[in-house]
Amino acid sequence: MGSLSLLFVITAATVLGYVLGDHYHPSGPGSRASSAKHEEMDPKFWNDKAQAAIHARLAQLQTASKARNVVMFLGDGMSGPTVSAARALLGQRRGHTGEEAEMTFDTFPTVGLIKTYCVDAQVADSACSATAYLCGVKTNYGVLGVTAAVPRTDCDASVDKTKHLQSIVDWALADGRDAGIVTTTRITHASPAGAYAKSADREWENDAAVKKAGFDTDRCPDIAHQLVHNHPGNQLKVIFGGGRANFLPNSMRDDENMFGSRTDGRNLIQEWQQDKRERNVQHEYIWHREQLMRAKIDLPEYMLGLFESGHMQYNMQANQTTEPTLAEMTEVAIRSLSRNEKGFFLFVEGGRIDHAHHDNFAELALDETLEMDKAVARAAELLSEDDSLIVVTADHAHVMAYNGYAPRGNDILGTSVTYAIDTWDGMPYMTLSYTNGPGFRPHVRGGRPNVTDEEDYGTETWHSPVDVPLSYETHGGDDVAVFARGPHHSMFTGLYEQSQLPHLMAYAACIGPGRHACSGAAHALAQPVLLLSLLVLLASFSVK
Ligand SMILES: *[C@@H]1O[C@H](CO)[C@@H](O)[C@H](O)[C@H]1NC(C)=O
Ligand SMILES: *[C@@H]1O[C@H](CO)[C@@H](O)[C@H](O)[C@H]1NC(C)=O
Ligand SMILES: [Zn+2]
Repeated sequence: MGSLSLLFVITAATVLGYVLGDHYHPSGPGSRASSAKHEEMDPKFWNDKAQAAIHARLAQLQTASKARNVVMFLGDGMSGPTVSAARALLGQRRGHTGEEAEMTFDTFPTVGLIKTYCVDAQVADSACSATAYLCGVKTNYGVLGVTAAVPRTDCDASVDKTKHLQSIVDWALADGRDAGIVTTTRITHASPAGAYAKSADREWENDAAVKKAGFDTDRCPDIAHQLVHNHPGNQLKVIFGGGRANFLPNSMRDDENMFGSRTDGRNLIQEWQQDKRERNVQHEYIWHREQLMRAKIDLPEYMLGLFESGHMQYNMQANQTTEPTLAEMTEVAIRSLSRNEKGFFLFVEGGRIDHAHHDNFAELALDETLEMDKAVARAAELLSEDDSLIVVTADHAHVMAYNGYAPRGNDILGTSVTYAIDTWDGMPYMTLSYTNGPGFRPHVRGGRPNVTDEEDYGTETWHSPVDVPLSYETHGGDDVAVFARGPHHSMFTGLYEQSQLPHLMAYAACIGPGRHACSGAAHALAQPVLLLSLLVLLASFSVK
């Protein structure tokens, strides 16, 4: 299109906008009332829904009990728009308009917001954020389980024990509870590693990475080694995820014929088994879904499940025979940990929401979000609201926008249908698009190409369009949501630092440092008040 005709289109569109009225909010979707559901036209529908919600909230008012069990779900990169769009996809897959659908965690009684920036970074990565939400302290971009006094990649600084942080896993274990970690990424990846590792660099997942950075693995052991040999990793009763390669020598193939990546010749899977044998505890290493299903029936005390050489496969692309779902892993983990009467802490990560976003794969990001919600649903079925706290949150946002003025029920993965009037060039744009990433398209003849014309349009590995070309899409700095259910859920309301999360969970569970629900101000206050009321009562009797 020539620049003159483009100018004409722009002018025409602008003029049309003014003629139609409020040009900030074009009249498009409003005229499509026929797509709305009939019941929604009756105010009674909305009023009844609101009243039912009030009843539900009243029924959920605070219990005084403490949380015996805590399950934390982490949607890696699960931004606000990701949650909203995943919900719409859920409803649309069921044949409904979609926007009104509810994921399981959507229905949790308390929602809060957290600020995710790190000590030296405006926008978080998964390492500094994991340190915040698992150890309770903000730190530097890219470091794990150490304070901000450790610059990234500074092995020497990270050796100093005074800079090491404890995680909520340490707190749970110190109280005699059990702990486990479950993820769809490599088990040594930043988010799960926040539960057990102390490392100046999240990249040091195996010995080769530490050596490549010029350091000695005796001083700065790699993350896989820490998981198997150091406290609290070596105390975890359940370890499920991907990432076998970091546990095996590069001269050796694993059960699925993939080479390991270690250069020290060590087989850490065997060393994990050896450690458990020496402690004389029942244990099992598994790598296949069927083994997990068998373990569910006859649970060993310790389980190490590594289901892929690298990250686990995206749910939409996974081999269903070999690859368990996040919900299946979560269920086995809960059944295993529930055997401890004192309770447990379980960390579950939907880790590949983030990876899909980095590749501008909107559909995969939403599907991974729905997979995590299925795991949340399974946990909510298995655990009672009276003694188990479930927290669902994200480590940081992404730059996917949910935009345009599409009518109700429009395909959430499709184009915003009003583009013919909205866009200056008459070309379609996507309801879900990104500000940056690999989905950049060069302009053709001075304008945007028609992306819906592309051969792979509509497939799950089609890159959504972006403004700024980058090899990988970036994280976002916006606040992310926290959803909570169970004892002391209402503590999670408000807008606060991400690093407060483990303190709140520890408060509800009566573990770790700080104030506790079972020994805090509420209890201390309750006793004198009770005594006073009794005295008043006695006095009133004696007066008569
Ligand atoms: C899944 O993996 C199994 C075992 O490796 C293999 O036999 C099967 O063909 C795979 N299925 C698909 C659909 O790729
Ligand atoms: C864009 O491509 C789609 C699919 O081929 C086509 O239906 C539509 O008319 C095209 N729109 C424009 C403005 O070229
Ligand atoms: Zn990321």
